[in-house]
Amino acid sequence: MWLSGDVITEVVPHLACFQIKVTGAECQCPTHSHTYSQAPGLSPSGKTTDYAFEMAVSNIRYGAGVTKEVGMDLQNMGAKNVCLMTDKNLSQLPPVQVVMDSLVKNGVNFKVYDNVRVEPTDTSFLEAIEFAKKGAFDAFVAVGGGSTIDTCKAANLYSCSPHSQFLDYVNAPIGKGNPVSVPLKPLIAVPTTSGTGSETTGVAIFDYEHLKVKTGIASRAIKPTLGLIDPLHTLHMPDRVVANSGFDVLCHALESYTALPYHLRSPCPSNPITRPAYQGSNPISDIWAVHALWIVAKYLKRAVRNPDDLEARSNMHLASAFAGIGFGNAGVHLCHGMSYPISGLVKTYKAKDYNVDHPLVPHGLSVVLTSPAVFTFTAEMFPERHLETAEILGADIRTARTQDAGLVLADTLRKFLFDLNVDNGLAALGYSSADIPALVRGTLPQERVTKLAPRPQSEEDLSALFEASMKLY
Ligand SMILES: NC(=O)c1ccc[n+]([C@@H]2O[C@H](COP(=O)([O-])OP(=O)(O)OC[C@H]3O[C@@H](n4cnc5c(N)ncnc54)[C@H](O)[C@@H]3O)[C@@H](O)[C@H]2O)c1
Ligand SMILES: [Zn+2]
Repeated sequence: MWLSGDVITEVVPHLACFQIKVTGAECQCPTHSHTYSQAPGLSPSGKTTDYAFEMAVSNIRYGAGVTKEVGMDLQNMGAKNVCLMTDKNLSQLPPVQVVMDSLVKNGVNFKVYDNVRVEPTDTSFLEAIEFAKKGAFDAFVAVGGGSTIDTCKAANLYSCSPHSQFLDYVNAPIGKGNPVSVPLKPLIAVPTTSGTGSETTGVAIFDYEHLKVKTGIASRAIKPTLGLIDPLHTLHMPDRVVANSGFDVLCHALESYTALPYHLRSPCPSNPITRPAYQGSNPISDIWAVHALWIVAKYLKRAVRNPDDLEARSNMHLASAFAGIGFGNAGVHLCHGMSYPISGLVKTYKAKDYNVDHPLVPHGLSVVLTSPAVFTFTAEMFPERHLETAEILGADIRTARTQDAGLVLADTLRKFLFDLNVDNGLAALGYSSADIPALVRGTLPQERVTKLAPRPQSEEDLSALFEASMKLY
């Protein structure tokens, strides 16, 4: 709500609107509905807020067939002993074969670890870490979706920091959240889903079995050295993997664009190494989020419905990276915070098209099912942004009132999900009202993301959001 050239005079710590006073005219258009100050201020809690944000991103190379260059990259790095990580299903599919062919052709020695768990746990991370420690590798290649890339990030980190305890680097309050100061080995990520953007981010997510919730490690230091984004791999994805990973892109974009602005996040770090990876929405992440959303609106349905639609699947592969660049620095909020117990507490649900032998709620599904309720709840903070995103997703907002922004976005999302045959809410995954206290308890430790929601939430609010997500249609 400020025009370039305006001078920000005061940050008013007012919960209802995060109001920032400016001199000069105010711009009311949706794209300028956030305010960006350049000086420290006060958060609603009275703590000093941040005044800066940092963009960290892996190097990215995009192109159909670009995977064949991976052997040359490793040779150029001087790698002599490489660890190739993947999951059992992908180890039988062309993306892994193309990587192995390139390594062989370029005379790069490697060992394969194909025991990555789809939706990894601390136990599965530790197994991969053990393999990496024993192998004394000088470089890593991860071929797969977020599960594989995240597992490989953890294996790289802990094998380079062999005396650390597992919880040392895990996000607080579950772990200690220590900053990473050891140098890591090069990691090349070859994403095969169009969802997590993990090839661009310094984040590795796992299910902490002891608490039955997901948490993770978040540090710029663990981001891959290079992401090789090769759309040809996406042609092998079954339709539910395309849909669910696409919903992850959708929520990364929506949540990072509506997150608390970085200059309202507290505390202000006293040293840049402790500035979190997830910093709040900011003008650079916004660009990536909005662009990713346009692509989702245009191509996700086509990508799901037609496995041969290379144009749609290629665009979704790029959108995944675009959203990753955005949320990897801005963060996500309530859909993700609430998703961690939804996947962690899974009972017997087995997702269609996921070739695994354990119950599983795919990450993208676990985030998107609460999205109508979440954005109905958050919209009162930045209604213009909620309306803008609804319009991108196809809503006619010409006559929409600002106070209806959340409902308009929620209806648009419900229609989008219905068109893509998404299960009818948390009840369809086996949850009932009796599970809500446990779901809320699993959300409370996710402060790293829930505090980035534009609107603070009480336990009662979280209960109501889970209840409202039991049925969507
Ligand atoms: N690091 C991050 O920034 C970040 C962000 C969001 C989510 N995540 C995490 O990533 C994980 C989810 O990753 P995902 O959604 O990419 O999927 P995934 O890695 O869990 O894979 C899902 C399934 O799809 C299969 N598959 C993957 N690519 C395929 C292809 N091209 N052809 C055929 N089958 C294929 C896999 O074998 C697996 O069975 C979750 O653990 C989630 O929490 C991480
Ligand atoms: Zn996600």
